[in-house]
Amino acid sequence: MTIEQAALYVRRRERMMESMGQGSVGVWMSPPVRVRNHDVDYLYRQTSDILYLSGCAEPEAVLVLCPERPEGERSVLFVRPRDVDREIWFGRRLGPERAREHYGVDVAYSVEELDKKLPDLLGEAERLFLRTGLEPEQDRRALEWLEQVKRKRRLGVVTPSQIVDPSRITDEMRLYKDDVELAWMRKAASINMAAHKAAMAAAKPGMHEYELAALLHYSFERQGCTGTAYQSIVGGGENATILHYTENQDPLRDGELVLIDAGCEWNYYASDITRTFPVNGRFTSMQRDVYQIVLEALDAAIAVCKPGALMQDVHQAALRCLTQGLISLKVLEGDLEKLLSSRAYETFYMHRTSHWLGLDVHDAGGYYDAQGNHRVLQPGMVLTVEPGLYFHSYHDVQSAEPFRGIGIRIEDNILITPEGHENLTLQTPRTIEQVEVACGG
Ligand code: GLY
Ligand code: MN
Ligand code: MN
Repeated sequence: MTIEQAALYVRRRERMMESMGQGSVGVWMSPPVRVRNHDVDYLYRQTSDILYLSGCAEPEAVLVLCPERPEGERSVLFVRPRDVDREIWFGRRLGPERAREHYGVDVAYSVEELDKKLPDLLGEAERLFLRTGLEPEQDRRALEWLEQVKRKRRLGVVTPSQIVDPSRITDEMRLYKDDVELAWMRKAASINMAAHKAAMAAAKPGMHEYELAALLHYSFERQGCTGTAYQSIVGGGENATILHYTENQDPLRDGELVLIDAGCEWNYYASDITRTFPVNGRFTSMQRDVYQIVLEALDAAIAVCKPGALMQDVHQAALRCLTQGLISLKVLEGDLEKLLSSRAYETFYMHRTSHWLGLDVHDAGGYYDAQGNHRVLQPGMVLTVEPGLYFHSYHDVQSAEPFRGIGIRIEDNILITPEGHENLTLQTPRTIEQVEVACGG
């Protein structure tokens, strides 16, 4: 970690402590390493709030923030101790001695001292900021620390009487991306755009969905990505109508479309692109008609993205275009406004148009503000725009019969700027012509 990056985390922790207020202590525990089988573990992913507040990706780390304590003792990080045997078998550890400087925290201890130190750190606060309900073992341990400090109450020691969810604060902070986060998201977007282009260029009839998935993952890993932001979706033909299709086992057939929804993480920041393109490189006229509707919905929804607009407005713009398109395809019949209010589109478009994007693919941050109003878009927010149309075999709608088996989604990642927006994924082929060129069709 560079000195500038460490300073950034110091600033975030300062802001966090300011929001927590005096009389508070905050504790963030890393998710446990999970066993896959025998002595093989699942790939580890640090929880995003710890990454956001410290940059520490190590398992077993615990971050404690104590705004009440004197300068130089307010941020405490517990990490795994150095251990020659464990390091020979499982990899290097930073250890508490080096962690202090590396992460720019005030104090670092071995995590083996957690049960000894935590009751003391808690015993100076009235409020404990702690996310509960995710890991029963962590909840139990925290209650035990609280029980230990409660015993000191009779001696006049102030002890926490409230547990408060810290994600109310971190969610709000994470909603507004700073310059470093945006640089990392731009990098993730650029690697992901190249990966999607490579998949378009490689696809041909007879290949399998997993071959395109492998190509995407190769593109991500050869650039040093920290991982994939979610399970990649490569759905040929009717598989594209399954929103979270991840089997990726089927052959890609001549004349069909393939939908790829995939994204890498750069420094744990996600990218989330969807493109749908013809396996043989040329859209049929029916595929073109449906694709053009989804593309127009994407453009109309993105055009709404600017400071002051509501995320709900973005969704409404997409719904209007998609519904109008379904009328033009003669799938729906009737008055546009009535079809919108009766949600007639839901059979063919059953998901929302946007979600926040950041450390998590479905990133932290409420879709409503504290008063329950739809969230107003502000500079620094990053959201996806991802309209689609899906003609399932599960549906038995006569008017949709000609389109049965077609699934099309197009997804871009949009940063709200003071002037309007910046499309972080604009360079991924998106018009019919660009897609056909990229496919070599
Ligand atoms: N790939 C997950 C999503 O688009 O929401
Ligand atoms: Mn996606
Ligand atoms: Mn998405």
